[in-house]
Amino acid sequence: MEVLVQPLQRTIQVEPGANLLDALRAAQIPMSYSCMAGRCGTCRCKLLDGEVLEGGAQGAGQPGAHGRDAYVLACQTFLTEPCTIEIPEPDEVVVHPARIVKATVERVEPLTHDILRLVLRPAKPIVFSPGQYVQLQFTPEHIRPYSMAGLCEDGSFEFHVRLVPDGRVTHYVANTLKVGDAVRVSGPLGSAYLRRKHEGPMLCVAGGTGLAPILSILRGAVQGGMTNPVHLYFGVRSPHDVYGLDALAQLQAVHPALRVQVVVASGADPAVHRSGLVTQAMEQDLGELSGWRGYLCGSPPMVEAATRVVRQKGMAAEHVYADAFYPQGH
Ligand SMILES: Cc1cc2nc3c(=O)[nH]c(=O)nc-3n(C[C@H](O)[C@H](O)[C@H](O)COP(=O)(O)OP(=O)(O)OC[C@H]3O[C@@H](n4cnc5c(N)ncnc54)[C@H](O)[C@@H]3O)c2cc1C
Ligand code: FES
Repeated sequence: MEVLVQPLQRTIQVEPGANLLDALRAAQIPMSYSCMAGRCGTCRCKLLDGEVLEGGAQGAGQPGAHGRDAYVLACQTFLTEPCTIEIPEPDEVVVHPARIVKATVERVEPLTHDILRLVLRPAKPIVFSPGQYVQLQFTPEHIRPYSMAGLCEDGSFEFHVRLVPDGRVTHYVANTLKVGDAVRVSGPLGSAYLRRKHEGPMLCVAGGTGLAPILSILRGAVQGGMTNPVHLYFGVRSPHDVYGLDALAQLQAVHPALRVQVVVASGADPAVHRSGLVTQAMEQDLGELSGWRGYLCGSPPMVEAATRVVRQKGMAAEHVYADAFYPQGH
């Protein structure tokens, strides 16, 4: 049966019962996704016509969405009849066909007591947009997504990996991975990438290693000559977790419209850092956010709380680009 994908005006052939996200990916439609589990909202599309079946935690047992302008999560949607789907933001869609590339570990070094900077040198380039992530396969049993901190023009990939207590893959990265090892990189993935056509204010919110994709976004904005006012809120748990200040100072030197607020949840010295939760600081400082774009990256609870704050302050849902670091679980 046929599914029409707007606004690309492309018709794809799909088997009845196929998952919508799988079908879009198989047809190489530039479609964003992240958790594949109905949680992150990254794969949200509009159903313009027809009927689909919705599965997953939220939609299980529901009769399904139908006809005009119902929103569906592609990863939780199954196609049962011909229909028309609209994918989001066609003018900002980035088309970087996913690739699998072999890379070599160039550097593994500490950034804080529990964050490592991992630099990989790919055998062939992978083109990505600032803010995107890739899947890293260290061994067939050690596979996780990580966000790039740099730009694809760098020629190497920089990642910030926080060591999770009892974390399987981060334990491997900290204790077994060494310079010269081969890593399979697949991607790019993710929809929380820099919107280059936007000229208004940008809000960037990073929790912990959520700073990695935010640095990439800021670097991309500077490289692209964007002059937008940027407000960055960087939230960490304790003063020991603050990192990246040199990189941020370098960015401020070339982008004076970048304001940086580092917010420390506990143990902050008031003479050095602002204390509290990043969302409290946002609530205190920020006024009406309509017309702003928001990039929210890091732990899922922080991203969810920050999303609530920006929505309450009037940021349009389609202008909130969230990249929550959901655990993968196997
Ligand atoms: C799109 C995306 C981008 C990501 N980018 C980054 C990145 O740039 N840097 C980065 O450090 N991580 C990032 N992550 C998270 C990363 O993929 C892993 O989930 C993380 O490194 C833990 O893997 P692990 O195998 O060590 O832990 P697991 O063995 O999977 O988990 C062990 C235990 O810790 C819990 N857990 C897992 N992660 C966390 C956490 N962050 N905080 C608290 N508890 C946790 C699990 O629920 C589980 O109980 C990203 C995730 C996604 C989905
Ligand atoms: S909700 Fe579909 S990829 Fe997260």
